[in-house]
Amino acid sequence: MAEHVYIDRIADHVGQEVLIKGWLYNRRSSKKMRFLQLRDGTGFIQAVAAAGEIPEAKFELADRLPQESSIIVRGIVRKEERAPFCGHELGLIDFDVVSESADYPISKKDHGDAFLMDNRHLWLRSYKQHTILRVRATIIKAIRDYFDDHGFVLVDSPIFTPAACEGTSTLFETRYFEQKAFLSQSGQLYQEAACMALAKTYCFGPTFRAEKSKTRRHLTEFWMVEPEVAYLDLDGDMDLAEDFLVYVVGRALEKHGAEIRERLERDIKPLENVHKPFPRISYDDAVSRIARIRDQATDPEIRQSLALEPEDDFGSPHETELTKRFDRPLMVHRYPAAVKAFYMKRDPDNRSRALCVDVLAPEGYGEIIGGGQREDSLEALLAEIDRHGLPQSAFTWFLDLRRYGSVPHAGFGLGLERTVAWICGLHHLRETIPFARTMDRLAP
Ligand code: 4AD
Ligand code: MG
Repeated sequence: MAEHVYIDRIADHVGQEVLIKGWLYNRRSSKKMRFLQLRDGTGFIQAVAAAGEIPEAKFELADRLPQESSIIVRGIVRKEERAPFCGHELGLIDFDVVSESADYPISKKDHGDAFLMDNRHLWLRSYKQHTILRVRATIIKAIRDYFDDHGFVLVDSPIFTPAACEGTSTLFETRYFEQKAFLSQSGQLYQEAACMALAKTYCFGPTFRAEKSKTRRHLTEFWMVEPEVAYLDLDGDMDLAEDFLVYVVGRALEKHGAEIRERLERDIKPLENVHKPFPRISYDDAVSRIARIRDQATDPEIRQSLALEPEDDFGSPHETELTKRFDRPLMVHRYPAAVKAFYMKRDPDNRSRALCVDVLAPEGYGEIIGGGQREDSLEALLAEIDRHGLPQSAFTWFLDLRRYGSVPHAGFGLGLERTVAWICGLHHLRETIPFARTMDRLAP
């Protein structure tokens, strides 16, 4: 009886007769040959048979079996450098159809994005999408391992919340029995409580923002990991973000470098450059650099896209042009407090600036991390809550953290999907998450 093996372990079975349990990904025939391309969820492999090598009825069936039929294939594993997919192929002995498929909607031809997203539940099976999901899973594991191995305690933040964390314009409101509740935009406020109890904590879960613009960088539901550390300042926070990112990129390359290069066709050289130290520049320095780039640009469209009002936040054209000048992630610190959230501590040397940092990924992937040092003075925090027009009553518990043993503390949030997009070299966030939620998509 042949043993069932997974394609990702196929190299351990050269010369053996094995069973592959999977689906027909594609097929090709000539008069005397049949090529069945199989996938089993762990990988892809081609099975080959010449006429006379398998039962005649199967030889005939192998010429018309529909794509994505589920099949169990028996064959001998051969090392074959020229074979597609995995450097091995299967000398077909026989196969059984578990369930015949019909009219599978996704074919080799080019489909539009909307069509593929409508069929996301099937599109996940494709060569590229299947690879992206594996890389995503590895990145999640690397993120968890980093914090677990560096003395952080996982403390889950709630998803139903009574108040805004990141501004009121992107809140998803929902009924909560007799009250109003909001889906969490960020677990940060709860991590601030948690780190006062456990020193170094993190949460990692879905967060929600009613993003009303349709951009390739915004989802309405995305995953964020948020570390928070008591007795940490902005410089320490930047050190942490830098060390963490180097680790995560390294782990992704170690496990998937070849797949990222070959299957996703992403040049991995820029990722191999992700070493410490990352350049750190202030917002004001970044503004001067953008102004110089703008002055030197001859294309009026670029000049227009790089226009910036004083004290304005950067848009993606600014981030893209800035990061083009660096070969690794860029840390921009001390943005104007006016464009940042209420909880940020002001820079004592220039109170119009916040002690915050954004980490911008190279190659135009934009902001992947936002964070900074938190306001630890009760009076200053109260003033900011008022200035932002937020209801003080919703923050009573949060203010307690400043009443009972307040200390300097800092943290950040890394957007998982933006990180996956950067590492996998994907243009749009919709391919970085199994089932994307955007302004115009709630299905499948
Ligand atoms: O910069 P943001 O808004 O920061 C916070 O939420 C802080 N409370 C985090 C903290 O300090 N604990 O968001 C953090 C990151 C961004 O840098 C980006 O990577 C990602 O979350 N992000 C989004 N990703 C996908 N779709 C969206 N709509 C996103 N909004 C933010
Ligand atoms: Mg941000």
